[in-house]
Amino acid sequence: MTVSILGIESSCDETAAAVVRGGREILSSVVASQDDVHRKYGGVVPELASREHLRRIVPVVREALERAGLDFTGVGAVGVTRGPGLIGSLLVGYTYGKTLASALEKPLVPVNHLEGHVHAVFLEAQQAGAAAQRPLPELPSVCLIVSGGHTVLYSVQPGENPPAAKPEYPAFRCRYGRIGATRDDAAGEAYDKVAKLLALGYPGGPVIDQLARHGNAGAVAFTAPRTRGNPFDFSFSGIKTAVLRHIRSNPAFEKEIAARGEALRAGARKAADLLPLCSRATLDLVASFQRAVVEDLVARTLAAAEERAARSVLVSGGVAANSELRATFERDAAARAMPVFFPSRPLSTDNAAMIAAAAYPKLLAGETARNGEDAQANLPLA
Ligand code: KG4
Ligand code: ZN
Repeated sequence: MTVSILGIESSCDETAAAVVRGGREILSSVVASQDDVHRKYGGVVPELASREHLRRIVPVVREALERAGLDFTGVGAVGVTRGPGLIGSLLVGYTYGKTLASALEKPLVPVNHLEGHVHAVFLEAQQAGAAAQRPLPELPSVCLIVSGGHTVLYSVQPGENPPAAKPEYPAFRCRYGRIGATRDDAAGEAYDKVAKLLALGYPGGPVIDQLARHGNAGAVAFTAPRTRGNPFDFSFSGIKTAVLRHIRSNPAFEKEIAARGEALRAGARKAADLLPLCSRATLDLVASFQRAVVEDLVARTLAAAEERAARSVLVSGGVAANSELRATFERDAAARAMPVFFPSRPLSTDNAAMIAAAAYPKLLAGETARNGEDAQANLPLA
């Protein structure tokens, strides 16, 4: 079955649409980022996010279809993010998707955003696998979803698959179990907050990723986060507070923070523009912050994979784009002979191709929207 699914994603601050054929072939993927809107607040402002989604949803969908070389009649089904996320943002994409599917008389497939992130890894492995004969991730897996809104560990197992569908990617349904999650900030949120404290712009992750290469990660010692009870829960607010304390205890930081704030207001965005305005102490601080976050993410994920006897580890979400996180996972997973899989960078951050891919096995299994079903801010995956 080579049905083309139109995917729609609007759970947070990217308005995205994509067309994926047969669950594995990305015909187009369009992402309209709202970074310029939220930048001056240093974080996502929900009311502004929904307004932007409303403004952009129609042109973004149109562009996704154009790039795929399709018109509406070529759409076999609509896959749309139902939750979790910001309710005002979700409602824009969900209502649009529902209306479109009904007008086209095509099935509407609601998708959990987190399941989309899991499928981003499968989708990537399939693209890479087809080209380079790379193996696909074997289940059971442990999946770390690490973004600005989520830091959560799931077990991923084969689900119930209809007899007609071969139990193979991409027609493969999965079953999820929650292993652990952050008790306070998501890792990406910690990156964004630290970047705000140090006047490094928004979003903070990509800039800190690049600046950290110039610092000494052993310079500032952070106590490893401890979470009583579940050893697979995360906590990043302590590290963030330690960064704040470190900045306050060294008045020398003040002047350069003011200078970078000035540069940001004048339009500086790139790490290369900010690097000359960063002292050694700042570079050491961001490198040490990143090391602390990365080591904690990698250690808990690999420990969970070992405990669950997983055959692979999947890492997805905006922070999965981080170069040190990727390198550390590859090094430490190789030492344990554990295969680890990441999406490409564009598939790591929020996008609609992962939503269309996750919709495909559901469509084959007849899991379409029920009457009256609506977007849900806290929709659980497991
Ligand atoms: O998945 P995503 O696009 O949206 C959410 O669902 O949150 O993730 C965005 C988050 C932001 O917090 C951003 O700072 C972080 O991902 N991020 C990174 C990197 N690229 C994006 N964090 C660390 N290193 C990166 N290279
Ligand atoms: Zn996300």
